[in-house]
Order: sequence, then C-alpha cells, then structure tokens
Amino acid sequence: MRVLFASSEVFPLIKTGGLADVSGALPAALAEAGVDVRVLLPGYPEAMAAVGAKREVGGVGDPLGIGVEAKIVSGKLPDSGVPVWLLDCPALFDRAGGPYQDSQGRDWPDNALRFGLLSRVAAGLCTDGSPVKWRPQILHCNDWQTGLAPAYLHAWEMISRPATVFTIHNIAYQGQFPAETVARLGFPPEMYAVDGLEYYDSLSFLKAGLFYSDRLTTVSPRYAKEIQTPAFGCGIEGLLAKRSADLVGILNGADYGVWNPATDPHLAHPYAPGDAAGKARNKAALQVELGLAPSAETPLLVIVSRLNDHKGMDLVLAALSTILRLGAQVALVGTGDRPLEDGFRAVAAAHPTQVAARIGYSEQLAHRMMAAGDMLLMPSRFEPCGLTQFYAMRYGTVPVAHATGGLADTLVDTGYDTLMTGTANGFVFEHCNAGAFQWAIERAVALYARKDQWRKIVTACIGQDFSWGRSAARYLDLYKSLSGNGKGRSKE
Ligand code: ADP
Ligand code: GLC
Repeated sequence: MRVLFASSEVFPLIKTGGLADVSGALPAALAEAGVDVRVLLPGYPEAMAAVGAKREVGGVGDPLGIGVEAKIVSGKLPDSGVPVWLLDCPALFDRAGGPYQDSQGRDWPDNALRFGLLSRVAAGLCTDGSPVKWRPQILHCNDWQTGLAPAYLHAWEMISRPATVFTIHNIAYQGQFPAETVARLGFPPEMYAVDGLEYYDSLSFLKAGLFYSDRLTTVSPRYAKEIQTPAFGCGIEGLLAKRSADLVGILNGADYGVWNPATDPHLAHPYAPGDAAGKARNKAALQVELGLAPSAETPLLVIVSRLNDHKGMDLVLAALSTILRLGAQVALVGTGDRPLEDGFRAVAAAHPTQVAARIGYSEQLAHRMMAAGDMLLMPSRFEPCGLTQFYAMRYGTVPVAHATGGLADTLVDTGYDTLMTGTANGFVFEHCNAGAFQWAIERAVALYARKDQWRKIVTACIGQDFSWGRSAARYLDLYKSLSGNGKGRSKE
C-alpha cells in the first residue's frame, strides 16, 4: 500500500501543536504496519535543517504561475526514518516566523499561495507530471492547508487517480480567502459553487477537502458526531451531516517513544511510570526552576497549551482565585492570545510562589511539566482529540478536563463507582463554565490529600494504552477499503 501523507507541520521538524505530533507518529506507525508511506510538508527553514541528509528529487516548476520555482527535496524523519519530501520554495517558505504567521502573530498575507502550492504539489505527485516515479494509491490530506489537493485531482478529471482521505484535526480553522483566489490558484470558475469550493462568498480550503475527498476522518469518535451539529460544526455541519456515511472518527495515539518518563531526555530525573518518588523529584526540581514554593504536599496543577478560548484558558484565569484559596500551585507553559498571556503574567507576578507562567513555546518545559505536575488542566470548550491528556496520563499526572471530543472519549470521571472499579482516570465536567471547572478542581484537590485514593487514579492513568498501533490499523483498514473495489464515495 502506497500512501502520500500531506501535512503543514510534522514533528520533530516543525511543530505548533498536535497536528505535528500526529503527522510524525502516524506515518511511522503506518510504516511499521508495512505501509509504504511518504510525508510531504513545506520546506520551512527549521524543517530543512532538521532533516539532515537531503537529496534533490526534481523540480515542480512554477505550477501556480506566480513567478517562483519550487522543487522537491527528500530526506528522512529523524528516529523513525520515514521518507519525507520537503516542498522547497524559498520565496514562500524560507522566512523567519511561524509556519502560518509572522513573529507578530499576523497571518502571512500570502497563505493562500503558500498552501495552495502545497496542495497543488501534493496532487501533482499523484500524476504523470510528478518529478518522481513513485505514485500513491492513497493521498491522505490533513487540515485546511492541504484541502485543495483533492479539488485539484477533481479539476484535472483524471482517468485514474489515487483515492483521497481528508482528516479534520480542527474544524475551527478553515482557510478562507477572497473569491478571486480561485482563479489565481488555477481552478475553473465552475468549481466556485455551493457544490464545490465556495463557502459564504469566499474560497474555503477546508470545505474543498471535505467536499472533494473520498473519505473523511476526524481524530475522535465523539468529535465526529459533534461536528455534525451547529454547536461544533463551525458552519460546515450541513455538509458533514450529508457526508456522514463517509465520515469516521479514529482516535489519535500517543508516541510513547517521545513521551516516556523513563527515557525522557528533558527531565532532571527520568523515572519509571508509577515511580512516585521519581515523580516527586521532578516536582521538586520544577518548583525550584520556576520559583514556586518548594513543597511536596502542595498539589501542582500544570497547563501545557495554546492560550485561546478554544482551550478554555479564560476559564483557568477565572478559576485562579479558587485555586489560590485552595493553596494549590499552578505552572503554565503556553502562548497565544495576548490578553490571556497578559492575564497569566499578571497573576504570576502577583503570586510568584504559587503561580508560574512561562509565556512561549518550549518542548523541554512541556515535558518537565508533565513529569512534575499532579494534575493537568484542560478545560477546552471543544477538543477534536487532545494529546496532552495522553502524555499527562503516562507521566502519572491526572487530567482535569471538560467532557468534549477526544477528552470525553478518553477520560473517566472520578466518582464512587469508578474509583471502586479502578477505572477513574481524571476529573471531568460536563457543562463548560467556570463554576463547573472550579468544582472539578476542588474535587481533585480534595482527593489528592487522600493518598490511597489518589494512587488508584494515578495507577489507572498509567495503565492506559494509547499507543499508535491500534489507530494506525484503523487507518490501514480505511485505506484498504478504498484502494480496492470500495473506492469512491458512499451513496448519500
Ligand atoms: P492542539 O493541537 O489543539 O494545540 P493537542 O493537545 O492535540 O492540542 O496538542 C498540543 C501539542 O502541542 C502537544 O504536543 C503539547 O505538548 C504541545 N504544546 C502546546 N503548547 C505548547 C507550548 N507552549 N510549549 C511546548 N509545547 C506545547
Ligand atoms: C488539533 C486539535 C487537537 C488534536 C490535534 C491532533 O490541533 O485541536 O485536539 O489532538 O489536532 O489531531
């Protein structure tokens, strides 16, 4: 089975969030299952540098006719050795700043061209015009940045084309651009229609992916249902409900090669999962590192997150007075919306021994927080899957989370029955408001003091197995159902 996996970020080459983790780990798990998988991503400078040995595979010319040449450079993902193709186009990708935004947090003004080209090249690699001989049987696209690839394959009216799979990692990001972009990206005007690329008078990359792909997936079963409703569908629920026979939720996995407290190079004191004394040493070290009061008994609540409304970070700010009153500590590493960043900075400045906020992105600190924390706070308003709860659990850190999307699919609230049966692995609240969140935190902090009970919850957390093998097998089944007779859309 030959699969081309196209993504705008891939760990460890370039990462802003969970999409990168998935795009690094899922292809590796597929390769282990015998799939001949290649990963395509933009040649950002960090990614070009991180790949190490590279080989120029061939040019793709200037397919959008914008006066910039691009080529494909091949290499291998560090660790897994999965083959990667970098779309080397310095005019579009070689710049200081993030993959989607400049260093001031403004979207790059030419994102339509940048990701239009990525999509165009992903599709081109499936045709006889490709600079490489290898042709995929499946083109697997991820999120809006690659959403136009299935639309190009449709536009070219190919006699034989690969089957297409589109995975929604987050429906809130849609890649919408002015109508004139349609022609600039080389699409015929008739494709700019309700049954096509058009979405509320603009071009939507996400809708294109959802409309033109053979199969749709998202990253948890619960989110697959949620996005077919107005509350979570961000305006696309109608199309998704229509295509529900082609939509499936496959839960993400965790890369326990990267997230293993016993071998974690970022920890002051690596420890076996379940080694409470080892975990305590990391907590003590982090308290010193962040200037928090050194105290083994004080519950330490950690946050590793983008700072925005989606993640419910305003609810954390609202709950801070309760947390302070309970005598707990908070340590945060995150970056995002300026008012939230400022809010956390201000509380940390006012209560430096109880609250630490590191505004920014730090892979090392994220690992140390997972190791040191007693609880991980995740009050996400919606959460397609969420990966940090997987990581926290492996490190013996108990999630406190809103019951939505992948969080609802992976966490079992602590109550009398679930404690008795040993299934409780978190503190979960149903209604997403500050009161419900605070109450979940209060319950968690109260139980933390009951060491025997807490131990049970931590044991349940550590015992969870979210390794990628199971999810990769489900993707493989999906690919197989498409590459044989089953190719094409289900009947509506
Ligand atoms: P999302 O992709 O919506 O941000 P996920 O839980 O799926 O949420 O994945 C987030 C990933 O990004 C995790 O690997 C997490 O550790 C990482 N992460 C988020 N914020 C930071 C940060 N400020 N520093 C380091 N890692 C971060
Ligand atoms: C998105 C979602 C997150 C998910 C990740 C990987 O960023 O917000 O919930 O875990 O993609 O699929």
